[in-house]
Amino acid sequence: MTGTLFSKADKDIEINKNNDCNDLQCEEFEETPLYAAVLTYLGYAILCLFGWLRDFLRQSNIEKKRGAVDPNASLGFVPLYQSYESFYTRNMYTRVRDIFNRPIASVPGAQFELTERMSDDYNWTYRYTGKTISAVNFGSYNYLGFAERTGQCATDAINGLKSYAVSSCGTRSEIGTQRYHIELEQLLANFLGVESSIVFGMGFATNALNLPAIASKGDLILSDEMNHVSLIIGMRISGASYQTFAHNDMNDLEAKLHAAIVHGHPRTNRPWKKIFIVVEGVYSMEGSICRLPQLIELKKKYKAYLYMDEAHSIGAMGKNGRGIVDYFNVDVNDVDILMGTFTKSFGSAGGYIAGRKSLIDHIRIHSHANTYASSMSAPIVQQIISSLRLLSSPEGEKRICQLADNTRYFRRKLVDMGFIVYGNKYSPVVPMLLYLPARVTRFNREMLRRGIAVVTVGFPATKLLEARVRFCLSAAHTRPMLDAALAAIDEVGTDIRLRYSSRHVHRRLKDL
Ligand SMILES: Cc1ncc(COP(=O)(O)O)c(C=O)c1O
Repeated sequence: MTGTLFSKADKDIEINKNNDCNDLQCEEFEETPLYAAVLTYLGYAILCLFGWLRDFLRQSNIEKKRGAVDPNASLGFVPLYQSYESFYTRNMYTRVRDIFNRPIASVPGAQFELTERMSDDYNWTYRYTGKTISAVNFGSYNYLGFAERTGQCATDAINGLKSYAVSSCGTRSEIGTQRYHIELEQLLANFLGVESSIVFGMGFATNALNLPAIASKGDLILSDEMNHVSLIIGMRISGASYQTFAHNDMNDLEAKLHAAIVHGHPRTNRPWKKIFIVVEGVYSMEGSICRLPQLIELKKKYKAYLYMDEAHSIGAMGKNGRGIVDYFNVDVNDVDILMGTFTKSFGSAGGYIAGRKSLIDHIRIHSHANTYASSMSAPIVQQIISSLRLLSSPEGEKRICQLADNTRYFRRKLVDMGFIVYGNKYSPVVPMLLYLPARVTRFNREMLRRGIAVVTVGFPATKLLEARVRFCLSAAHTRPMLDAALAAIDEVGTDIRLRYSSRHVHRRLKDL
């Protein structure tokens, strides 16, 4: 990465150094306008009507049959696939499949190449044309711009490959532990300021397979309703009881903690063995930040354990990139279980758990992800080690400041243009509400036509009424790239009427 990308003096860039953002003042969740809600329901109703008509035509053999057909239907089995989800996939998702799952043909850097594909049968199948589409990337979680094929990280990763090959061909607890695993765990523990850490080959499995190592039957898990599916799967596998609390709602959490202490297990009324509070640092669909100081207060008051998933905040938040603990400037030892992934800010793969030595020793013995999964690959570990080292250097500081600056600039402009933008003003995940299914599709296609690749998300990944585009900002984005994206959003947003905000004045970019 060249120096010009980070030419802005970092001293004037704001990263919440004054810790002034402990509550709702930095977050905005404007309610859905009534007309947008009505039009969205109407849009889905029309899609359903056409879906039923098409299904009728398919069943009557008038229209060529497409999609999954149950092979056991004639044998009298209960249908395997015929649920509302398959109706939705067949009749709604397939119509617009071109805006999802786009294959890429380059490094997921700030400017990247998408593989061009065409469909001759309305998105049921694709053929690749052999060409690529160059676009500015607002979809990858490359927050600090470490996903590169040249530079220190890439060189170290290649050297790691040359020294140790791709695989260790063994699990950590057998003969799969290499020098670089131990080096990474020590480096990470020092970086986070905790006693110990343990790393795993997959972020998703870090949640799904480690929650069962620390929670079990007789325990209660209180989970934020917006938690990632890997956490939900981990809770289910653990055998512990679990309840959700309203997103970032500390009153609801306290009420549930209180009830849990007073009533204990609902069947036996025995006290819960342990109570865990499970949250994320930055919520990847909402762009919101957990209320860490209040969570710590509550966990101390009710003697619960706090598990925080920092997948989207480690590296990207706080003035030293040490995540939400750094952002709120609280004592790291107040979070009992720190979890994070290396797929975002570190431009690599895998996940970690960090905290007290006794916790990590327990996980090392009881985690299936440690005992039964092959250990992390050398080039992947070297990429993380290099980016961790860089994070603590002036270069890392510049990237952290650049990301904060890009985030503030981009969010501010969107809000000032009158779009509804969710989340915290410091969050590098920037969701902008589109609502109507037709507008989601049109926005995505029109942005790509203007050279900007974006990720749009709708039901079932969001509530039916809250389809959105989710911009992921990166330190590698230059000011001209941000301006090009803002100009495209301004133009498309005007064409298809996306300025929904009733709190902010609607303005064109040129008038700001
Ligand atoms: C909050 C959260 N936790 C865990 C994961 C899983 O991490 P990975 O993609 O590294 O497997 C993700 C993935 O995006 C995530 O958003």
